[in-house]
Amino acid sequence: MKLLVVVFSLMLVTSGLAWGVRGPSKVSVGFHNLSSTAPGGYYATDEDSICVFCHTPHGGTLDGPLWNRGDATSAAWKHYNSATLSTSLKGLSASRPPNPVSMLCLSCHDGSLALNHVINEPNDRTAPIKDSFGGADMKMVVMFGQNPSIIGSTALDEAATGDFTDDHPFSFSYDSVLASTEYQSGNAKYNSLKLPGTAVGQGVRFFAGPTGTNNVECSSCHDPHVNYNDLLGGNSAYAPFLITPNTGSALCLACHTK
Ligand code: HEC
Ligand code: HEC
Ligand code: HEC
Ligand code: HEC
Repeated sequence: MKLLVVVFSLMLVTSGLAWGVRGPSKVSVGFHNLSSTAPGGYYATDEDSICVFCHTPHGGTLDGPLWNRGDATSAAWKHYNSATLSTSLKGLSASRPPNPVSMLCLSCHDGSLALNHVINEPNDRTAPIKDSFGGADMKMVVMFGQNPSIIGSTALDEAATGDFTDDHPFSFSYDSVLASTEYQSGNAKYNSLKLPGTAVGQGVRFFAGPTGTNNVECSSCHDPHVNYNDLLGGNSAYAPFLITPNTGSALCLACHTK
């Protein structure tokens, strides 16, 4: 029995070296705690439950796991484009709507929806969730000198929503990119992306459909529950909400060979 335990822990240790490891989870200590329990939270509300801003046990949507939010409402979407992207990505419409998995994040981060509006309000409430000052609408803000958390805005237009022209491409199939001509033997990008299995082994995630297999979405690189507060039992290598640490660009190198 002891031997088995030793062998098993060795397996864990060695696999930990080669395989990306998910960070410690604790929503309550980070920016994704929008409740009245948030530690000094700028975005705090008058509601004490934490998960409700994203999940509900009943009556949510099927866009995500027991999802409690509506979709971002931008009128127009604009994705990143460049002369050097693969023919597969260039072939996709730059104005395609984001896939549902990324919509989950964009339902706050696009900047078009109020954070405190949920589909199914907790039963013990008599009035809709308000911000801690009593406001009915609490949207994400862009503050001086702060990294913009509104992914749908750009430096040129801070009030924009749905503009991802300055963001890493997402909502596309990784497999389709790998299958494009440039990535075949003898061509310019041959071997410059890892095989999907290798990338997953180094910590990233891919998602199913609707646009082909192994889609790259926000959560390919992010984990909305991870605790990256060193002082409160977390690990700062996972900031900001990363799926695997980007120390020495490890997250980028999980997919790119550069
Ligand atoms: C800010 C939004 C947000 C909050 C708050 C949040 N989650 Fe999630 N959760 C997500 C998203 C998005 C997913 C979809 C998968 C992913 O991106 O990791 C998810 C997936 C899940 C899943 C299924 C997949 C998995 O990782 O196990 C569970 C279970 C879950 N959340 C539980 C919770 C609980 C319990 C809480 C409250 C303590 C909570 N979540 C708070 C956004 C959130
Ligand atoms: C319920 C609303 C909500 C949802 C849904 C949500 N977020 Fe956030 N997120 C926030 C708020 C509020 C902040 C703090 C923004 C600020 O600092 O201005 C934040 C901050 C962040 C940050 C920056 C953290 C930092 O330390 O600066 C990242 C990264 C992030 N979210 C990623 C995601 C991803 C990826 C998803 C989907 C998997 C997601 N969020 C879903 C509300 C949300
Ligand atoms: C290819 C990987 C990747 C994808 C896909 C991705 N992110 Fe990020 N994101 C990162 C990394 C890495 C950082 C940290 C950047 C830094 O430290 O400067 C980051 C930072 C952020 C921040 C903090 C503000 C900022 O500008 O640094 C937010 C908010 C965020 N991401 C949300 C999202 C959302 C929402 C999506 C999907 C629409 C998304 N991310 C897709 C890798 C990614
Ligand atoms: C989940 C896999 C994945 C991760 C993680 C990832 N990328 Fe990418 N990235 C891609 C794919 C696939 C493309 C599209 C390549 C193509 O079309 O040829 C891309 C495109 C890009 C481009 C645009 C290339 C062009 O020709 O315009 C840059 C630059 C880039 N990534 C840098 C990064 C950086 C920096 C990181 C880390 C912060 C990162 N990537 C993380 C998969 C990933």
